[in-house]
Order: sequence, then C-alpha cells, then structure tokens
Amino acid sequence: MTVRRYLIAGNWKMHCRRSDGTALAADLAARVGPTPDPRFDLLICPPATILAPVAHAVAGSAVLAGGQDCHAQAQGAHTGDIAAEMLADAGASSVIVGHSERRTNHAETSTLIKGKAAAALRAGLTAIVCVGETEAERDTGRAEQVVAGQLSGSIPDGATAANTVVAYEPVWAIGTGRTPTLADIAAMHAMIRAKLVGLVADPDAVRILYGGSVKPSNAAEILGLADVDGALVGGASLKADDFWAIAQACP
Ligand code: PGA
Repeated sequence: MTVRRYLIAGNWKMHCRRSDGTALAADLAARVGPTPDPRFDLLICPPATILAPVAHAVAGSAVLAGGQDCHAQAQGAHTGDIAAEMLADAGASSVIVGHSERRTNHAETSTLIKGKAAAALRAGLTAIVCVGETEAERDTGRAEQVVAGQLSGSIPDGATAANTVVAYEPVWAIGTGRTPTLADIAAMHAMIRAKLVGLVADPDAVRILYGGSVKPSNAAEILGLADVDGALVGGASLKADDFWAIAQACP
C-alpha cells in the first residue's frame, strides 16, 4: 500500500494584511519548527501581495508558502495577472488552481485551469487542482460526472504525485459550515483516485485533499477516511489554533 504524507493547506483567500499575515505565519512556523512533522506537510497560501513577507516569515521552518492562482503564461501583457514563475520568485512552492471561487467569479474553464496547472509545473511549483460539484449538480445526481469531467479537463500533461495535488471541494460546502456525509466524501475520493489512472503516472501516490468547512471538530473523521490525504482549509486556516488543531488531527 502506498503511504501518502498528509498535506494540510490553508487558503487565506482575500484576507490578511502584512502585519496579521506575517504574525500568523510566524506563529505556525514556531509550532512546526525546522523539521517537517512525520505525518503532514503544512502549507499556507496568502494573498499574492503578502506572499513574499509570509514566505520570509516561515523561512527556516518546515512551513511552506503558496499562491492562490496563476496565469498560464510566464510573462506578457496581462494586466493584474501573476505568473507562476513570479510566485516561485516570491517564495512559493505550490499554487492553487481552479478554485471554485475562480471557476465561478472569473468564469474559469477546465481548459484554462489545465493551462495554469501546466504553468505551475513549468515553474517548478506543485499544482493544487481544485474540483467540486454545485449543490444543484449533487441534487440531480451528477456530482461524480461533473467532478470526473473537471478532473480530466484540468490535470496537466506530465502530472505526477510529486508535482500535482487534487483538492475535492464541493461548492456548497465551502464557507457554509455544511459538509457531505463521510460516506459521500469517501465515495468521491475513491472515484477521483480511479479516474487519475491515465491522467497521472502514479495515481496511487497522488494526494487528494478534501476542502469545504473543515474545522477542528470534523477534521479527525474526515482525515481518517481512505483516500483523504489532507485538507484544503479556508476560514479555519486564519486562526493558528484552529489550523494547527486540524493538522494535529492527521492520523
Ligand atoms: P472553507 O473554504 O474551509 O472556509 O469552507 C475552503 C476553501 O474554499 O478552500
């Protein structure tokens, strides 16, 4: 059986200024220390404006920093966009692509997201590719079909367990306090694992995160499921105690 290290990733979204962001990062860095925990990797993804100072605040610790989005091109006339290479230059080791808030608010398609994920790989970053169904899609029995389609459309060529992570985030569970049943999470993660065959070289080794209202009170039961290899955490990643408690819930 393949042993996969857990990845606990914090998505700060459009929160934190330099002062509170670097304080939160330094707090986590002090808890983790210089050596990675044997169970999990800890990643924080601040807004791009404070990525460099946050990366500086965690330097020397095992805490990793990442971006929340990137452009598919390495440079060019793209006002307001940020290249994966620029995130790497600012201290990122990973980047989230295809978060549902970007799929919805910026009309991002799986084709576009695949280009962004490919850009992440080209820049030496790990791509955290997000997939997930809406409530209407689940209610009409199409959740697995939608997620499978997003997966096959968004995973870049050359993806391996070393450079690509999948995050399953049901849209209706994000920021709502609601989560799928444990059985539904397990079923979706098993489906994703099966679908990765043919999309990545080593599907058994790819980390599949669950995201959507993960908190200290539900982290242990979710992280204890087969094929759940970590969490992508929004709201609860903004409080060091909560984020740390989630990480400590890794089996
Ligand atoms: P949430 O967000 O933990 O606040 O639900 C998760 C995410 O959007 O990544």
